[in-house]
Amino acid sequence: MTISVPKSLNALNSAVLTEMGQFIDTVDCKRFRCMIITGDGEKSFVAGADISEMSTLDPAGGMAFGRRGADVFRKIETLPIPVIAAVGGYALGGGCELALACDIRICSDNAKFGQPEVGLGIIPGFSGTMRLPRVVGMGMAKQLIYSAETIKADEALRIGLVNAIVSREQLMEEALRIANRIAANAPIAVAAAKRCINAEFDLDADKGIDFENKEFGQCFATNDQKEGMKAFLQKGKYEYRGE
Ligand code: CAA
Repeated sequence: MTISVPKSLNALNSAVLTEMGQFIDTVDCKRFRCMIITGDGEKSFVAGADISEMSTLDPAGGMAFGRRGADVFRKIETLPIPVIAAVGGYALGGGCELALACDIRICSDNAKFGQPEVGLGIIPGFSGTMRLPRVVGMGMAKQLIYSAETIKADEALRIGLVNAIVSREQLMEEALRIANRIAANAPIAVAAAKRCINAEFDLDADKGIDFENKEFGQCFATNDQKEGMKAFLQKGKYEYRGE
């Protein structure tokens, strides 16, 4: 999914958010095994939510706008296939939050990340206050959000906000390399792993262990598990079918 709003460095307005949500609803997760989200152009992944649209909102309008973005990002977080953010350039405000809703983040060496919202009199509104601490830890998340400071790619890597930095030219190649690695594995198992990791974040240890245990057991109901293990034992290879 490529975000393309050339006039505003791919800022997210209501129409774009609606389109993103509709697009995600149509993704056939039985056919596709991974999704990559990127921004159009050299300069920007997503430069945030659209400030001109937000500038005239009242509290109810602010809530509705925030909810629209949060709902779309939650769809991404809970999509049955992994989602990779390929961040080339600015990932600010809602752009950083979009990357945070993805499972995996990689970026180009010209990438810049930040949550500039408090410098505009608002707070992150697309679930950044919830997801940023989960990814980089509470201390660093508080510093980034309270200071509105923008950080470069190497600092994003250092704090764990991204998994890798590559050149701008190599960005999609590297995202596709990771996507292809994921796509070669048993898709029902990958989806179960995503469900577990997401769910266990909100559960206490005993409930998390139970959740994983049930999902682990269910893997043994799949043909892919049987054929994959048989192929391993026979020193062969099996192409997973998602069945
Ligand atoms: N909303 C609306 N328009 C935006 C925008 C945004 N978030 N970001 C950039 N634009 C527009 C600019 O207004 C400009 O439009 P014009 O050509 O009509 O003047 C165009 O995109 C190009 O931007 P700049 O001229 O500013 O480009 P630059 O290279 O000088 O600076 C930048 C790039 C540092 C990203 C700068 O554009 C910027 O600071 N943008 C705003 C970033 C920001 O604050 N994002 C957070 C928004 S709040 C949010 O996201 C809330 C939330 O959590 C839901």
